[in-house]
Amino acid sequence: MSFNPTSSRKHYHLFDDENIDHMYFDISPAGEIDANKYSLYNFTGDPKLEYAEWDSRMDMMGSWFSDMKKSNRFLYERESIDGSKVVSNVIDPETKTVKEMLNFASNDYLNLTQDKRIQAKVIEAIEQYGGGAGGAPLLSGTMSIIRELQEQISSMKAMEASIVYTSGYAANIGTISGLLGHKDIAIYDMFSHASLIDGSKGSNKKFFAHNDPASLEKVLKNVQNKYINKLVVLDGVYSMDGDICNLPEILDVAHYYGAWVLVDEAHATGVIGKNGKGTIDYFGLEGKIDIITGTLSKSVGAVGGFVSASQKLINYLKYSSRSYMFSTSPYLPAVAAALEGLKLIANNQAGQDKLWNNIQYVKARLLSAGFNIGNAETAIFPIIIGDDNKVKEMTYRLHQKGIFVNPVPYPAVPRKLTRVRMTITAGFSEDQLDNALNKIEETAKELSII
Ligand SMILES: Cc1ncc(COP(=O)(O)O)c(C=O)c1O
Repeated sequence: MSFNPTSSRKHYHLFDDENIDHMYFDISPAGEIDANKYSLYNFTGDPKLEYAEWDSRMDMMGSWFSDMKKSNRFLYERESIDGSKVVSNVIDPETKTVKEMLNFASNDYLNLTQDKRIQAKVIEAIEQYGGGAGGAPLLSGTMSIIRELQEQISSMKAMEASIVYTSGYAANIGTISGLLGHKDIAIYDMFSHASLIDGSKGSNKKFFAHNDPASLEKVLKNVQNKYINKLVVLDGVYSMDGDICNLPEILDVAHYYGAWVLVDEAHATGVIGKNGKGTIDYFGLEGKIDIITGTLSKSVGAVGGFVSASQKLINYLKYSSRSYMFSTSPYLPAVAAALEGLKLIANNQAGQDKLWNNIQYVKARLLSAGFNIGNAETAIFPIIIGDDNKVKEMTYRLHQKGIFVNPVPYPAVPRKLTRVRMTITAGFSEDQLDNALNKIEETAKELSII
């Protein structure tokens, strides 16, 4: 059956009638889906969607979007007219006017996207190299500035060699899929980033409980003689929770069972460890990790991704990692920005101390106000609410008050842990933080969250 706007329920056009009951959506008398009853998952993530034709999926999602937009609760993709700044000028989707907002939605933790020293290097690079690299490295060759960036990354991560990709996503997906064969398995912390999980699409994978070495041990015991190679995959700092991975204990377990370990340093680079070197330095475990991946788009303030490992592993990836082999090298002005950003971080000239003052200030105030922030320890703070509609409403009211934070609904996190996510950057003054925190507290009280 196809889309029928006059009925009181809408459903997907299905190939398999047996599943039809599960696919109905309640609609309002005006023929719209009630947005509050559904989340993005219902339209893009639910496995039952396999039975729906593309047209039907798109119609249903469109109806959900239009209901959210009508009530002005559609706050995805807010548009800034001047970049990712501490005070960002954002076009208000409701009034279509430009609104000054305190930006707690950026991962530009050290505000390097706006750094004049980096901008000067970008202009120099455009003059020397132009824009694009002209092709993938294996056939079109690489550039001196890319080699320099790779060496800078290897030095920061204390690894033999590195290669860069166009994004952190491409680095993760390309590294894991480049290593895993049919007789290998990836074993993930269940809070691992999507780009890591996507690397084993169609391959063997299992999950262990977040940050729990005993749970990892159980999985490793079960798979012990079933696979040739085992890769344990972790985030150094978890992107939705801001907690640090339990690396020492997890590493012990992984090594005991002969598994290799990959750590994604996307949110740790520039934030933790001496001079922002990351999680491995933070725990004093240099030389013990097999593979480090990361992004150049967060603290580093540019765009691109990397993998660092032994020289032989990097040589292997150059010819097995398809998002490296079959993709043009990163945009060269971005390479120049990343290189300068990493140098500033390495020399402790990128404001890491200021970032940590701000993190500690925000953490103390959120805790004393009575918020549940889980085990947040870094620049990412989840304000855990556990009610999708309150999360949406809090985000909207804060948007109206000029505070840019994001909702993280189910299924990005479990239903009882849905949250507002805020990220802290170095450039906030104490007055700006107070202003935001007062509004966050006031709004949470209005909604009986605290
Ligand atoms: C943990 C983690 N890994 C990888 C990525 C992907 O990085 P990029 O945005 O450079 O693709 C992200 C961010 O989006 C992330 O949070």
